[in-house]
Amino acid sequence: MAKSPEEEHPQKAFGWAAKDSSGLLSPFHFSRRETGDGDVTIKILYCGVCHSDLHNVKNEWGFTMYPVVPGHEIVGTVTKTGKNVKKFKVGDRVGVGVLVDSCKRCESCQQDLENYCPQMILTYNSYSQDGTKTYGGYSDIVVVDEHYVLRFPENLPPAAGAPLLCAGITVYSPMKYYGMTEPGKHLGVAGLGGLGHVAVKIGKAFGLKVTVISTSPKKEEEAVNRLGADSFLVSSDPAKMKAAINTMDYIIDTVSAVHPLAPLISLLKLNGKLITVGLPEKPLELPIFPLVLGRKLVGGSDVGGIKETQEMLDFCAKHGITADIELIKMGDINTAMERLAKSDVKYRFVIDVANSLSQ
Ligand SMILES: NC(=O)c1ccc[n+]([C@@H]2O[C@H](COP(=O)([O-])OP(=O)(O)OC[C@H]3O[C@@H](n4cnc5c(N)ncnc54)[C@H](OP(=O)(O)O)[C@@H]3O)[C@@H](O)[C@H]2O)c1
Ligand SMILES: [Zn+2]
Ligand SMILES: [Zn+2]
Repeated sequence: MAKSPEEEHPQKAFGWAAKDSSGLLSPFHFSRRETGDGDVTIKILYCGVCHSDLHNVKNEWGFTMYPVVPGHEIVGTVTKTGKNVKKFKVGDRVGVGVLVDSCKRCESCQQDLENYCPQMILTYNSYSQDGTKTYGGYSDIVVVDEHYVLRFPENLPPAAGAPLLCAGITVYSPMKYYGMTEPGKHLGVAGLGGLGHVAVKIGKAFGLKVTVISTSPKKEEEAVNRLGADSFLVSSDPAKMKAAINTMDYIIDTVSAVHPLAPLISLLKLNGKLITVGLPEKPLELPIFPLVLGRKLVGGSDVGGIKETQEMLDFCAKHGITADIELIKMGDINTAMERLAKSDVKYRFVIDVANSLSQ
């Protein structure tokens, strides 16, 4: 008979899990594998709350395996190292993002693109190589192969830096890959949530002119005065949207729900690029005429490889980029999820795991 999550492994673990598609999280006892020769065991300090966690706990993508312990923006401290571990020692401040394993042999892995490995293993809602389920960072400890663990720069504050491990790399990687970094070019950021607000900051650090395209007029003041955007467009304002047609070189679309692409494509100049990173639960409609007539490109991107994630963390540390966060207790997670569903967060919830997770 299969062992229960609590008995599968030798290291006791505790976290909060959703048990069904109501998405409600509650305390959950489980276990973590023994620290293998190439593994580090990490005491989790902070974990960001990504909209993907919300999609997952509510089974909006249709592949959630309950119980699910979400969380893939993890910052913690190394407490144990296996005998072959070279990168880390006990006491090091480290990060874990969206993936915890991959095959290490395929074309993607060989190019430091583990995030596109067909056998990539996600931090939660996935199966480890030993056949047991992975559980994420809304929990006390995690055991990870050192290759998938990031050095967390000393001058990055751990709570506000945690969201970089998913939100940060998810916008940084396409900006690099699609050549969206030429100073002076105009970047549109659709959706001012966790990903979007970090995209504004990274875009400014690359020297871009940044315009936020939002459904929330109340975010304008902060977008410009606090986050550093150059301008702000409310997508429901036809006059302003019309005036902005043909003005943008690139757009990063971080919107989490089904939305029309035509208005965004119309904002792009000739040869403009619309890169979608948001993952709405249903397909979007793609109008072909404006793409063809303006030689425009629509692309996608999925987080980033480990090497690039380290590069992004170091870049953010150098430029003083962190997320704007609301620090919450573990027990506040269900309210936080309700607010996240309504785009009511400035701009990322981060759970103070070590100080609020008690059994
Ligand atoms: N590709 C990847 O690797 C990757 C990685 C992480 C996350 N994601 C996905 O990216 C999406 C965003 O994640 P997040 O954590 O940034 O979410 P978030 O904090 O909830 O931000 C999403 C933003 O989208 C806008 N929005 C929400 N509903 C909308 C609607 N019906 N129409 C138009 N705009 C709407 C809101 O911005 P305004 O209020 O400004 O309109 C909201 O703040 C999610 O789908 C997530 O699963 C993908
Ligand atoms: Zn995420
Ligand atoms: Zn691979």
